[in-house]
Amino acid sequence: MIITIANVKGEVGKTTSAVYLASVSALHNPTILVDSDPQRSASEWLAERPIDGVSVVTAPSVKALQSATDKASCKIIIVDTPPGHEGLVRAALEFADVVIIPTRVGGVEVARVQTTIAMIPNGTPFGLVIASARTWTRDFRETVMAWNEVGTKVLGVVPERVSIASGPDAELYPDGIEAYSLVWLALEELRKAA
Ligand SMILES: Nc1ncnc2c1ncn2[C@@H]1O[C@H](COP(=O)(O)OP(=O)(O)OP(=O)(O)O)[C@@H](O)[C@H]1O
Ligand SMILES: [Mg+2]
Repeated sequence: MIITIANVKGEVGKTTSAVYLASVSALHNPTILVDSDPQRSASEWLAERPIDGVSVVTAPSVKALQSATDKASCKIIIVDTPPGHEGLVRAALEFADVVIIPTRVGGVEVARVQTTIAMIPNGTPFGLVIASARTWTRDFRETVMAWNEVGTKVLGVVPERVSIASGPDAELYPDGIEAYSLVWLALEELRKAA
């Protein structure tokens, strides 16, 4: 299964989602984290804090991405994508069996999510992860309701936590692992239903 994490907008939680999901996935299956971001954020994170069962492949071009995802040596492949970089993002979406779109609360985020959804090939299942969420706010509740109203699946919500914001400077944080474990379950359901 190839899981692509994408949003054409930057700083929404793609790399954080990719790393946490890889750690959850690796509890059950050896997992490859394919880093297609030329900034190499995921590669650097894993270099600083290796995760048992997760290996990293850097693939900052369409060709490299193709060969990394062709390799069927692993049951689970998670692809982190750069912001912008339309060609790379499109390729990563084309190779995907399922797509996760991290997003945040707020009106300005919606258009970029819709642009990203429009790039997903027809029939590929996808869902949102609301990252860094202030779950007690009205804005958060309204955002979730709005996505439900338009029928866009929200696979999970990851609360805003200082320790998650620390990235590779800290161990993976239990609240994050818990939230991404629920995302993982929702993702498996989505895949089964497809
Ligand atoms: N649940 C969370 N709680 C607090 N901070 C978070 C959370 N998730 C992500 N962040 C922070 O938000 C910022 C953006 O996250 P991340 O780097 O994962 O986004 P990205 O979409 O990969 O960014 P880019 O587009 O630059 O690659 C980072 O500083 C990260 O630590
Ligand atoms: Mg990133």
